[in-house]
Amino acid sequence: MCHPQQNQHNLQMDARSAFFWVSCSVFHVRSAAIFAAHHRKSLMPEQNTPETEALQFTNVAALYDLLMTGVPYDDWVTYIEELLESRNAAPKRVLDLACGTGNVSVLLAEKGYEVTGVDIAADMIEAARQKPVQPGWRMEFFNQDAAEMDLGDRRFDLCISLFDSLNYITDPQRLQMAFHRIAHHLEEGALLIFDVNSEYALKNRFFDQDNRDYPEERLMYDWKSVYDEKTRICRVYMAFWYREDDGTTREFKEVHVQFAYKAPELVAMLETAGFTDISTYQAYTMRMPGRTADRLYFVARKG
Ligand SMILES: C[S@@+](CC[C@H](N)C(=O)[O-])C[C@H]1O[C@@H](n2cnc3c(N)ncnc32)[C@H](O)[C@@H]1O
Repeated sequence: MCHPQQNQHNLQMDARSAFFWVSCSVFHVRSAAIFAAHHRKSLMPEQNTPETEALQFTNVAALYDLLMTGVPYDDWVTYIEELLESRNAAPKRVLDLACGTGNVSVLLAEKGYEVTGVDIAADMIEAARQKPVQPGWRMEFFNQDAAEMDLGDRRFDLCISLFDSLNYITDPQRLQMAFHRIAHHLEEGALLIFDVNSEYALKNRFFDQDNRDYPEERLMYDWKSVYDEKTRICRVYMAFWYREDDGTTREFKEVHVQFAYKAPELVAMLETAGFTDISTYQAYTMRMPGRTADRLYFVARKG
């Protein structure tokens, strides 16, 4: 086990570099001017209609793993195992909720966990299902909405939901339903571990980023966020440019929508769903979150 104090620095570095999906380390510095000038189009929010919001995790699904190349998923799994150890938990059957393309599911299956991944985006689940599976791995994927998740009589001794996936459930009532569904599928005493983007992060536009200074990258992107203080909704207008094998560039857009949940609200929702023994951490540490923490981790026990 890595001692929390020992790995705290590295994990914080990783967390920062991986923040909101993309590690800058993926992209190497070269001049971007020509590519950027040619391919960047205006991302003015008003150009996006509400319908485009339905597009989140569709076009990007096939390129998600490329986008995630620098994300330290291994370190996240190490951190999860530290949190488990701090609770003397040794789960075997894991529900990876909002698993995306299954990057964490695969790492857990490799370590011998029995993993069930669930995600609302059919294209993400499709990508997860296409991942190579080694003999002996136990891993399955379902395309379902967390709020209405029904996995029959399956019961788990851990549920994880990583990379601010729960912020995407923008209706608090639906998130409450999701917590109830998670509780339903957990054994008594099992743990739920998830992370969220903090209100501070969404307010302070941590989503705003681009890699237009790295034109050699096959996948370029430019994201702009708009946060509404009243609704606590953050809309992220994402533009991507992917260089195909034949050298042509394909452009596509997605609008991602997140809700800024406050920690006490999440604690109350967890309690309503029957969770106890709830702790909140500054991501990748064993400390309570500070005022400017951008990512919060929650650990809760069913029953
Ligand atoms: C940023 S991605 C994270 C994916 C994965 N956990 C990872 O670490 O790479 C957020 C994921 O949440 C999923 N998601 C959003 N709302 C959901 C819901 N209501 N039920 C299940 N999955 C959902 C999206 O489809 C997407 O795959």
